[in-house]
Amino acid sequence: MKEILEKIEEKLRICGDIILNADRSLAIIDEKSGHANLVTTYDKMVQEKLMTFLSEILPEAKFVGEEGDEEKSDVSEGYVFIVDPIDGTTNFVKDYHMSCISVGLLKDGEPYIGAVFNPYLNEMFTAIRGEGAFLNGNLIHVSEQPLSNGVVLFGSAPYYEELHQKSFDTAFYYFKKAMDIRRSGSAALDLCHVACGRAELFFELRVCPWDFAAGALIVTEAGGKVSTFEGTPLIYDGKCSILATNAVVSKEL
Ligand code: IPD
Ligand code: CA
Repeated sequence: MKEILEKIEEKLRICGDIILNADRSLAIIDEKSGHANLVTTYDKMVQEKLMTFLSEILPEAKFVGEEGDEEKSDVSEGYVFIVDPIDGTTNFVKDYHMSCISVGLLKDGEPYIGAVFNPYLNEMFTAIRGEGAFLNGNLIHVSEQPLSNGVVLFGSAPYYEELHQKSFDTAFYYFKKAMDIRRSGSAALDLCHVACGRAELFFELRVCPWDFAAGALIVTEAGGKVSTFEGTPLIYDGKCSILATNAVVSKEL
């Protein structure tokens, strides 16, 4: 599986260059369902490239991408790539330099490989199940800080209006308990930042599998805990909430 991950990394770097060299005047921005649910020509372009690249790397794998209109695949059997071509699309549109490409590979419904590439910082987060988590080839681990010394990350998509109040109430609750809070605009990067100890907790009340298919594995391989906000296992065939913590905060909660 190491060779497969290396090939994925190589392709992620090619797609990272597309994002870095994007001509913003050509980035047609469309709104998907709901307020500020954006997609650009670059999201679609990167997804198409990845669909081709990944099918060359592992032809038997199915492909699920955020921007696809393909039929819903059964993710519980065989290999399935779950891809977010640009996680942090609003950041990309605003040239905010906090976006990434996320590729998760499931095997029989369980996370097997995860790779998240932030081209702006040239940071490649990777994990293979049972083999630890890495940042640019160096082993990473979640922090050992309690919540009181912790940074809490959260997401709150503008298009899920019914979750706004609870999201910000929960963020306020953690703001009072932790050292500080942040909202980056990329769930996949939030997970990687918990994995490498830059933050202690990440939560979001509704995310899609492409937001976490890679990042959740990277957190658990880095010694952290990931579940839904209610404490049940994440699901890969629909939307769910997410809570990722280091092991110390997990015990505190
Ligand atoms: C979004 C980002 C954001 C999170 C949303 C996601 P996108 O992904 O990860 O941080 O709050 O739930 O949908 O649309 O930028 O790929
Ligand atoms: Ca996206």
